[in-house]
Amino acid sequence: MDSLQDLRARHLDSIAGAETESDLEAARLAAFGRKSGEIGQRLSQLGGMDPGERKRIAPQLNRIKDEILAAIGERKSELAESALDARIAGERQDVTLPGRHRRCGSVHPVSQVIEEVTAIFADLGFEVAEGPQIEEDWYNFDALNIPPEHPARQEHDTFFVRHSAAGDGQPNVLRTHTSPVQIRAMREKGAPIRVIAPGRVYRCDYDQTHTPMFHQIEGLAIDRDISMAHLKWTLEEFCRAFFEVEKAELRFRASHFPFTEPSAEVDLRCSWEDGRLKVGEGDDWMEILGSGMVHPNVLKAGGVDPDQWQGFAFGIGIDRLAMLKYGVPDLRSFFESDIRWLRHYGFHPLDIPALHSGLSR
Ligand code: PHE
Repeated sequence: MDSLQDLRARHLDSIAGAETESDLEAARLAAFGRKSGEIGQRLSQLGGMDPGERKRIAPQLNRIKDEILAAIGERKSELAESALDARIAGERQDVTLPGRHRRCGSVHPVSQVIEEVTAIFADLGFEVAEGPQIEEDWYNFDALNIPPEHPARQEHDTFFVRHSAAGDGQPNVLRTHTSPVQIRAMREKGAPIRVIAPGRVYRCDYDQTHTPMFHQIEGLAIDRDISMAHLKWTLEEFCRAFFEVEKAELRFRASHFPFTEPSAEVDLRCSWEDGRLKVGEGDDWMEILGSGMVHPNVLKAGGVDPDQWQGFAFGIGIDRLAMLKYGVPDLRSFFESDIRWLRHYGFHPLDIPALHSGLSR
């Protein structure tokens, strides 16, 4: 027969080794089962011992019994706990969602180009001026030296608006160019003045290179002795900065606008290679703007004395610039709001044009 110590060790081992509740139950029965439980049997043998031996064995055996019962209780709660852990692990649900691509709108190329042009002229000391898109007939035409019977009025394909805000019986128009802002800015700020005025303009025209609404940027610089040379330098600086090239060569072609004298249309030297524009080289010329020295009648309409002040003005087609710089083939696509087109040609909202970071990066 095993010694009491062996008996104890054997039962404690099999309890500690029980991996399941039924292992543990088997270990319990081996110790205390009614028929074959070893500890139970030993306890019942106590009665047949002589008193001296019983007195020696009984306390030891009782201690071992208590120890084994405690071990069974402990192991039981361990097994219950790990069964719970296993169940929790098995029923675990991942309630997180995979990260979603952030939807982000884009900045329209026309808006981006307006920002770029504004950054360049701000750097040259021009401030931004504004005027209304529904304009009085007088600002859009008369004040710009275009009297009622002038043929230029027909050329502009004007949209008329029935009611005049001025209440003078004259119709309002959707402004056909940004030049009326010249008059408004001079009347507001006087001379000397240096302003640009970007904005929407309207003409009744529609084909691959014309839309009924498009964008211009007007420039006006008035001081005591401003000449065509200043105009040329300013426009060359602008083109170099805008197209991000070392050299931009401009050609001034004599032209006619009622509000400038002399007047010039300005072409930019360029070449087309595989449908891409190269500025400053090649044998092609691309018309980009109209300009000239402000007509004395226009200065007068702006409240500026033509005997004291003179200056230049220009008007650039913004959409045309955007098409050239970013390779957009059809002007009409600018205004179709096709989301795929906007994703392709649009700019990231944080991609804010600034000269110090390289205009378009
Ligand atoms: N307003 C003219 C146009 O729309 C452009 C222009 C502006 C020309 C200023 C000369 C001076 O065609």
